[in-house]
Amino acid sequence: MELIVAVDLNNAIGKDGDLLVHLKPDLKRLREMTTGNIIVMGSKTYMSFPKRPLPNRENLVLTRHPELYPEVKCFTDINQLLEYEKTADKTIFVLGGGDVYNQLLPYCTKAHITRIISEFEADTYFPDLGEEWKKVWEGEIITTEEYPFRYEEYHR
Ligand SMILES: NC(=O)c1ccc[n+]([C@@H]2O[C@H](COP(=O)([O-])OP(=O)(O)OC[C@H]3O[C@@H](n4cnc5c(N)ncnc54)[C@H](OP(=O)(O)O)[C@@H]3O)[C@@H](O)[C@H]2O)c1
Repeated sequence: MELIVAVDLNNAIGKDGDLLVHLKPDLKRLREMTTGNIIVMGSKTYMSFPKRPLPNRENLVLTRHPELYPEVKCFTDINQLLEYEKTADKTIFVLGGGDVYNQLLPYCTKAHITRIISEFEADTYFPDLGEEWKKVWEGEIITTEEYPFRYEEYHR
């Protein structure tokens, strides 16, 4: 599994059920990376999408109330997801949110991090990557949007 996240300088990722900021190039990149693959997210992140499920990729939702999301495949615990991963022939990308990143980080081997060079008020955070994670790549700072940001890739 690989994870994709946009964090600010304090590892904040969300506020009031929404993203801190909607960076168009970042959302486009996420679409390109995940199209044709599999995405998994917590029910709160899933419900934050204006249009759902996200098209042209398999949407998996973690929830204890699968009856609320009949349009997608749901898992009521992490083990079910890990079993499903064994049979999957495509990459599973973890799309959050904070609760789900925390639980799935130990099962991820790559992290695609968008670092927003700002500090926001927030109520949801990305966990600290432990020492076993190494940054393998970092892009230039992109300044075309209201908030500057750059892409980073980490491997475990
Ligand atoms: N910056 C980013 O890249 C990024 C990415 C994603 C999300 N976000 C932000 O993060 C926030 C949402 O994160 P969050 O931590 O509040 O919620 P979340 O992780 O999206 O979803 C939490 C929900 O997932 C379900 N869940 C979690 N663990 C489970 C397990 N082991 N088994 C079954 N179900 C499980 C539960 O759903 P039920 O209550 O239905 O049982 C739980 O309430 C929003 O502000 C969102 O915009 C930011």
